[in-house]
Amino acid sequence: MGRRPAPRGNLPEGSLSTGEERARLVREMFDRIAGRYELLNTLMTAGLNRLWNRGAVRAAALGPGDRAIDLACGAGALTRDLAKKVGPTGYVLGMDFSREMLKSAGTRPLPNVEYKLGDATDLRGIESGSFDAATIAYGARNIPSLDALFGEMARVVRPGGRVVCLEIARPEGRVSATFYGLWFDRVVPWLGAKVSGDAWAYSYLPESVKAFVAPDELAHIMRRNGLQNVTWRPNAGGIVTLHVGTKPG
Ligand SMILES: C[S@@+](CC[C@H](N)C(=O)[O-])C[C@H]1O[C@@H](n2cnc3c(N)ncnc32)[C@H](O)[C@@H]1O
Repeated sequence: MGRRPAPRGNLPEGSLSTGEERARLVREMFDRIAGRYELLNTLMTAGLNRLWNRGAVRAAALGPGDRAIDLACGAGALTRDLAKKVGPTGYVLGMDFSREMLKSAGTRPLPNVEYKLGDATDLRGIESGSFDAATIAYGARNIPSLDALFGEMARVVRPGGRVVCLEIARPEGRVSATFYGLWFDRVVPWLGAKVSGDAWAYSYLPESVKAFVAPDELAHIMRRNGLQNVTWRPNAGGIVTLHVGTKPG
């Protein structure tokens, strides 16, 4: 079956659908923009995404020879950083439900990385406790059931292992909020439409951030899914948040 065309125009505010329909729209959207995704990410964050990823790798507390699973790995930016950290004796599994994003990830193969097609909320084929850390970067906001996501992340890490979530957020400070409004509501949709040719995808981005849970609520969801010592910190004035939790030993 051929790929569906992009929905036309911008996404009307507050119009995000839920459940399966939303998952399908998100998957098809990432299939369409896969080729330009990493370039746009770098442009839209002025390269700061590399710095934020490094913070996520540190939070995962991995060492040489460790095993990590990177969910909603996309074109593999964080996956590759994790792979560097665990070294040649380690292993990183990158998982995403968009074939095109995985194809893009596959253009930069590494010997200690494997990519698999799969849904981050259903890791049935993966043994419990089989990873030292589970990460997700800019994926959680796209996932309708955060309980299913964090339940699975907590399940597949070993006792004492880390669960890490990097996500775009809505800053609270006046200066950051003003900058955020300009950047996410105006520049991002315009730049995204120009570079990717997909206006819908880049008006979805700010809408999905607005619809996402607040950082304290996300921490609460992680705790109720069995993680402890859950903390979060803002990056870049709260535009990006990094949540970390540990599976009880
Ligand atoms: C904004 S991209 C982030 C990609 C990558 N983690 C990064 O840091 O660049 C979001 C990714 O989440 C994937 N995704 C969304 N929902 C998913 C799900 N339920 N299961 C697996 N992947 C999912 C999309 O296909 C897309 O590649």
